[in-house]
Amino acid sequence: MPDIKIFDTSLRDGEQSPGFSMTHNQKLRVARALADLKVDIIEAGFPAASPGDFAAVQAVAREIEGPTIAALCRTVPRDIEKAGEALLPAKNRRIHTFIATSPIHRRDKLGMDKAEVLKNAVAGVELARSFCDDVEFSAEDGIRTERDYLAEVLAAVIEAGATTVNIPDTVGYSTPQEMTELFRWLSETVPGIGGVTISTHCHNDLGLAVANSLAAVEGGARQIECTLNGVGERAGNCALEEVVMALRTRSDRYACRTNIDTRKLHMASHLLAAVTGNFVPRNKAIVGENAFAHESGIHQHGMLASRETYEIMKPEDVGVLSSQLILGKHSGKHAVIDRARAMGYELAAGEIDGIMAQFKELADAKKRVYDADLEAIITGNQAGG
Ligand code: KIV
Ligand code: ZN
Repeated sequence: MPDIKIFDTSLRDGEQSPGFSMTHNQKLRVARALADLKVDIIEAGFPAASPGDFAAVQAVAREIEGPTIAALCRTVPRDIEKAGEALLPAKNRRIHTFIATSPIHRRDKLGMDKAEVLKNAVAGVELARSFCDDVEFSAEDGIRTERDYLAEVLAAVIEAGATTVNIPDTVGYSTPQEMTELFRWLSETVPGIGGVTISTHCHNDLGLAVANSLAAVEGGARQIECTLNGVGERAGNCALEEVVMALRTRSDRYACRTNIDTRKLHMASHLLAAVTGNFVPRNKAIVGENAFAHESGIHQHGMLASRETYEIMKPEDVGVLSSQLILGKHSGKHAVIDRARAMGYELAAGEIDGIMAQFKELADAKKRVYDADLEAIITGNQAGG
């Protein structure tokens, strides 16, 4: 069963998106939660971006033990030197250097031809290797890069000393089938790739980041780059909690393992939401309030018989105390009787219809019926009876 490394970039790709910036101390709090989660790599920031980001990366490198601490930099010497310096206090450090390889980026952004990009990529990796042994190279917009050229760049950076090669879907353009096919082809074609870690980094512009990351794993990727709650540029990155639970829940299909302590997922997700002031949507997979909540009568009846009828994961496995049967207008008598029993009321057969009629009337009026409401209905009924 291969191990999949989880590379979290909430503090870099996540933080660089509008509305998600964090203070120095907030970054440290999130980094501690990521270490508790047991992510393999924390990308702590982009030290050349600002003195504040430099200091935050340095502080994470100094304080956080366990995961490898990574810092992002272009293949520009000044950026690489800043990354190397900021990471110095870390026990395990990684320089993550990147340059765009696609025709659009080469022409419109970099003004470089293929040979210049290749030369910069190799020089960047060589310089990064003079600071540490663990060097990741990313071919930005790799998905929209000519295949043969992408393979040539990857072979050259591996030769130059890269230990991880990342093929980002920078603009979230790919589809799962294309991802599996491309990663498989690269795994079989690029000289030296068998000796390094192949990584996937998917953005969510078409809502496919998690599916594309899983598809890359099927093609041979062994590192997934992701963020808590899927935060990140534009529509975000692959959501850590989703991809980890997909690998775990569907181990029958993926047959691989992560090191994540999934019981910490809920806490980490809600910490990030609190520090950035961006709430977790109610219907968000894994960590949303509704992820383990059921209101409809048919679902509640099923859940009371066996929770496997409507749940594919255990709430406690992601750090949620228990499933919830929410009482509302869609609830049926099975859930009402069960809740009454849990509150200490054994309802007689003859009183159920009357209680249900009042319950439905109240539910229509106020949407959610709380335990105190139900108790008032039951005791009112019994007092009157
Ligand atoms: O999306 C992207 O291409 C990136 C790289 C810098 C890794 O974030
Ligand atoms: Zn990205």
